[in-house]
Amino acid sequence: MTKPVIEAKGFKLPIVGLGTWTLRGRECTRLVEQAIRIGYRHIDTAQMYDNERAVGEGIRASGKRSEVVVVTKVQPTLLAPHDLERSVKESLAQLRLDVIDLLLIHWPNQRVPLAETLGAMAKMKQQGYTRAIGVSNFTVALLEEANRVSPEPLVCNQVECHPYLDQDKVLAACKKHGMAMVAYSPIARGQARGDELLGRIGAARGKTAAQVCLRWLIQQGIAVVPRTSKVQRLGENFEIFDFQLSDAEMTEIAGLARPGGRIVDWSYSPQWD
Ligand SMILES: NC(=O)c1ccc[n+]([C@@H]2O[C@H](COP(=O)([O-])OP(=O)(O)OC[C@H]3O[C@@H](n4cnc5c(N)ncnc54)[C@H](OP(=O)(O)O)[C@@H]3O)[C@@H](O)[C@H]2O)c1
Repeated sequence: MTKPVIEAKGFKLPIVGLGTWTLRGRECTRLVEQAIRIGYRHIDTAQMYDNERAVGEGIRASGKRSEVVVVTKVQPTLLAPHDLERSVKESLAQLRLDVIDLLLIHWPNQRVPLAETLGAMAKMKQQGYTRAIGVSNFTVALLEEANRVSPEPLVCNQVECHPYLDQDKVLAACKKHGMAMVAYSPIARGQARGDELLGRIGAARGKTAAQVCLRWLIQQGIAVVPRTSKVQRLGENFEIFDFQLSDAEMTEIAGLARPGGRIVDWSYSPQWD
């Protein structure tokens, strides 16, 4: 059966996390607290989401801080070492936590040499501000470079991943470097909900299309961070450990990938400026 935790370079990352983009204020705090109550042990936030304070409150309210992997991400405009260091201290102040568990570069920024940014990320780890470091939205070529120049091990690459987008090459690169791959927008921003194939596969097992979609990812050893603003869906998105997809079903779902299946617009990344 699929393990509930991925181990990458000695770091243990729970395979199902809660995405928090767009969640704000009390609603965000309540959802984070409730998610931890029902078993989530991985919470995904970012400086860009403007919700680190609310996320931190939810984590503290759960009373389970020590069990939870808290992930936050440095804005792509703050990747110069001095900016990065200042912003990480600000993240900790917002979260009101002593340490971040996993700190990611949110998006690459070609205006700042990657080695400098990774040097600063490593310093944050060595000085105890974060337990581990990783990246997000890195291509295969960037993963090669990052693993070559990073002074500290990189434990994950968080990228868009769902059945409509073929990410096999990035997954292979993550495996090659011993990194976990984390799928963001894992239910394709809700698109999976109405999918005929996912719905049919789920109906035979009393599962929803969204659950089949998430199961397809974790069964490949890919971590997922689905987001919901609805408490009842927190449970739905977590109850994906009690069924298995056949090899034929896995292949059929992979066949949903199509050109133009990407949802998140890369054009705003400073990389392309
Ligand atoms: N690193 C990056 O650059 C990056 C980029 C994008 C996202 N992320 C992270 O990944 C997380 C997830 O991605 P996402 O927010 O883009 O999209 P997502 O999780 O794929 O989809 C969220 C949408 O799906 C709906 N939904 C959730 N559970 C459902 C279910 N069981 N059945 C039907 N609909 C459901 C939600 O609506 P309701 O609220 O109505 O449930 C919401 O509209 C983000 O929150 C963020 O933490 C990272």
